[in-house]
Amino acid sequence: MKKSASQDVAPDASGALDALSHEERVFRPLPKVVLGANLSPRGLEAAQDQAARDYLKFWEEAACELDWYGRWDTVLDDSQAPFYKWFTGGKCNIVYNALDRHIASPNKNKLALIWEGEPGDSRKFTYYELYREVNRFANALRSLGVGKGDRVVIYMPPVPETVVAMLATAKIGAAHSLVFAGFSAKSLRNRIHDAKAKMVVTVDGFYRNGRVVNVKSVVDEALIGIRGGCAETVVVVHRAGVDIELTEPRDVRYEDVVRQERSDASTEVMDAEDTLFLLYSSGTTGKPKGMVHTHGGYMVGINRTFRWVFDIKPTDIFYCTADPGWITGHSYVVYAPLIAGTTTVMYEGHPLYPQADRLWDIIARYGVTIFYTAPTLIRMLMRFGPQYPKRHDLSTVRLLGSVGEPINPEAWLWLHKHIGRSECPIMDTWWQTETGMCMISPLPISPIKPGSVGKPLPGVEAAVVDKNGQPVPPGMGGFLVIKKPWPAMVRNLYNSPEGFRETYWDKIPGVYFAGDMARKDEDGFYFIQGRADDVLVIAGHRLGNAELEAALETHKAVNEAAIIGVPDPIKGEAAKAFVVLNDNWRQEFENEDELVKELIKHIRRELGPIAVIKAVEFRDKLPKTRSGKIMRRVLKAEELGQELGDISVLED
Ligand code: WT7
Repeated sequence: MKKSASQDVAPDASGALDALSHEERVFRPLPKVVLGANLSPRGLEAAQDQAARDYLKFWEEAACELDWYGRWDTVLDDSQAPFYKWFTGGKCNIVYNALDRHIASPNKNKLALIWEGEPGDSRKFTYYELYREVNRFANALRSLGVGKGDRVVIYMPPVPETVVAMLATAKIGAAHSLVFAGFSAKSLRNRIHDAKAKMVVTVDGFYRNGRVVNVKSVVDEALIGIRGGCAETVVVVHRAGVDIELTEPRDVRYEDVVRQERSDASTEVMDAEDTLFLLYSSGTTGKPKGMVHTHGGYMVGINRTFRWVFDIKPTDIFYCTADPGWITGHSYVVYAPLIAGTTTVMYEGHPLYPQADRLWDIIARYGVTIFYTAPTLIRMLMRFGPQYPKRHDLSTVRLLGSVGEPINPEAWLWLHKHIGRSECPIMDTWWQTETGMCMISPLPISPIKPGSVGKPLPGVEAAVVDKNGQPVPPGMGGFLVIKKPWPAMVRNLYNSPEGFRETYWDKIPGVYFAGDMARKDEDGFYFIQGRADDVLVIAGHRLGNAELEAALETHKAVNEAAIIGVPDPIKGEAAKAFVVLNDNWRQEFENEDELVKELIKHIRRELGPIAVIKAVEFRDKLPKTRSGKIMRRVLKAEELGQELGDISVLED
């Protein structure tokens, strides 16, 4: 490490930015942080040592920090690799760890969840209150015929009942599958279908940016002509007082079904490898894939990383801005904080409503101690200037986190200075829907290089390799891979075991292929360079190029389309479309501008508000390989004025 450049305090002004972009600066944690950390420097050394010496023992000890109904026979069963199994024979339920056991502990009357609605209303649940609500809904699910092994789709915004529905589903041994409320009716229908979900839980509507967003009507549209056996019941939570249509006997109101239920309910004893949830995420095909996560390994992985990376103490108020519909929400808004007996904060609405200080106001009012967010949000808020955070007392904050995309130096510095008082460490955590838990991240005791996601956590073995799996020298870019299985890893792709093999395990034999490009410096610090495959990360959300193209191609004016990612100052990456039109488009559209507007609207209708196209360019033809595959990389190189680099492993 270059000692001369390291220092304790935050740099100021442009000189600092300059230094940061050359990654010369190293931020060292304050002594008080190191002294109080759950994982001390000596503990870290011991953990790394143990993980290297006896990897299985390392994870077995992590499992022992949780409660099990029955002990496992095998820590890691690799007999059917890459379909790895963890803690086989073990009996557990993640909800026992997240709720049930707290009721017999001093956490019983502690706040589990602080929720704030966009209009300013707020609801708080102690562990006991949340436990009782979950039990009532668990009983209601059983009364409605949902049981172990069934799938429940949860199409909800961030409201307390989303958490309740997740936990109640898991409690009775069914699997939940959350669909972010920004997805369209069509996306929702595809997911309900693929998961063969017996039930859908939703709301009438919710508040976003001063408006009421209708949600139930989207569900109604999604269920038109749905295959039999899917979505037999729709449970609708009352949130925004939207006038909704109830289709009987399919639709029932949440309030009606829980009213008659008891507030105690048995927790299903699950095998460690039983499915906890499916979560659909974009891949390189036109169709999102259902990632399968299980009870046992998942709880072990998120619990350990939560306690170590976020250095959780009994007095912490943890605020992660992710929507529960994404993996970050699953792991670090809902499950890990509850397992750890922490108070977790959730906000329904838009970060700029009514003004650009909403999040700072939330932090101040609830005394948030740990704030975990995304670079795109920081970039959006920093545009409004530091006077917004300055209005609030943010002195309770002691640790910051970032996730979802590379954080640029400007955003890093702003977060560090204006939210972290130039002293709170920033945990830039690298992970994925597939990994379930943080994989590469600094720890509160580590030196930090802004722009770097630090080093692999103990028990995680990563590497940067070339397409043959050979490590590349320090400083060189390559493919990010994980060399050993880990407990919270994705177990399979729902309905697509072949896709599972091909996507993650066959690209570079013997290791997990993450789909990211990265570089490791001489000190072992990792820097993520972006996706290696045809997946965009727009505002921290994943969207497959092929998914956007397929949506565009359903428009009658479009003959063929190619989507590429282009840099965007706020969203990190944005989508640009290259479109070959059908000859007849002029019959319906006055001019090209009108058509561009229509195509952007069309994508939104197809995939939902999450899918934004920044620019559309019309072409006579698209560059293709001899086998007829569109060469997005050629378009991208042209667009960005770059040389065409080496052909990746992913192309013909
Ligand atoms: C992709 C995974 C699990 C977090 C939410 C996104 C990118 C994630 C970082 C980071 C640079 C990051 C990667 C990854 N990514 N964290 N700290 N720095 N890039 O989960 O939707 O499954 O997306 O997000 O490209 O592959 P996801």
